[in-house]
Amino acid sequence: MGRFITFEGSEGSGKSTQIGLAEDWLKRRGLAVIATAEPGGTPLGRKIREILLNRGASPIGAEAELLLFAAARAQHVRETILPALRAGQWVLCDRFADATLAYQGSGRGLDAAFIGTLNAFSAGSLVPDLTLLFDLPVEVGLVRARQRAAGRGPETAEDRFEQEDSEFHRRVRAGYLALAAAETARFRIIDAAADVETVHAAVGRCLEALAGPSPAGGRRAP
Ligand SMILES: Nc1ncnc2c1ncn2[C@@H]1O[C@H](COP(=O)(O)OP(=O)(O)OP(=O)(O)O)[C@@H](O)[C@H]1O
Ligand SMILES: [Mg+2]
Repeated sequence: MGRFITFEGSEGSGKSTQIGLAEDWLKRRGLAVIATAEPGGTPLGRKIREILLNRGASPIGAEAELLLFAAARAQHVRETILPALRAGQWVLCDRFADATLAYQGSGRGLDAAFIGTLNAFSAGSLVPDLTLLFDLPVEVGLVRARQRAAGRGPETAEDRFEQEDSEFHRRVRAGYLALAAAETARFRIIDAAADVETVHAAVGRCLEALAGPSPAGGRRAP
C-alpha cells in the first residue's frame, strides 16, 4: 500500500500551492505519486462539483450539501484513491473527511456524530496516514483567496464558502484545530501564514518523517 496524505485548512491557506510542491518533492525522490482533490477527482465528483457551484439558480440546503460531498467522496475513494494506494502510489488529497466535519459540522452546525458515521461510510473507513492542517488567521486566508479570485475566470466550488461571513470561517478554523487536538498522531499543524518556501520546508519535514531519509536512488524498501 502507498501512503494517503490529506491537505486541509480554510480558504487561501495554501493547500493547492503546497500539494503541487509536495508532489514534485516526492517525485524527485523516485516515489509514485498522484495529487487529487475533493469534490472532484472522478467524473461523478466533477458533476457534483458543478451542482454545488450552480446553487444560485436552485438553493442547496446544508443537509443536501453534506450528502453531495459524501457522494463525491464515496466515488473518489473507490474509483481513484484505493486503486492508487493498492498500486503502491502516494496519494495527496486536497481536502477529505475532516473538511466535512469542519465545514458542514463546525461551520454549518450539522451533527458531528452523524457526520462521523457518514464519513466512515463514504470513505470506506479509509483514514489518512497523515493530515497536514494549514492554519492561518481567517482574514489572511480570505484576502489571499480574493486576490487569487480576482486573477482568474469562473469561480470554483469552494468560492461559495469564501462568500460566507467571518464568523463562519472562524468556526471552521476552530473546528479544524479541535480535530487536530483530538488526533495528534495523525495531524500536523503547519503555520500557513509564512511564505511559500517556509511552508514547503515544513511540509517537507512531515513528508520526510513518513518517507524516511532521502534514498541514494529509487524507491524506499516496502
Ligand atoms: N505562503 C503563502 N504566502 C502568500 N501567498 C500564498 C501562500 N501560499 C499560497 N499563496 C497564494 O494565496 C492564494 C491561495 O492559495 P491556494 O490556492 O494554494 O490556497 P487553497 O488553500 O488551495 O485555497 P482554497 O481553499 O480556496 O482552494 C494563491 O493566490 C496563492 O498563490
Ligand atoms: Mg485550493
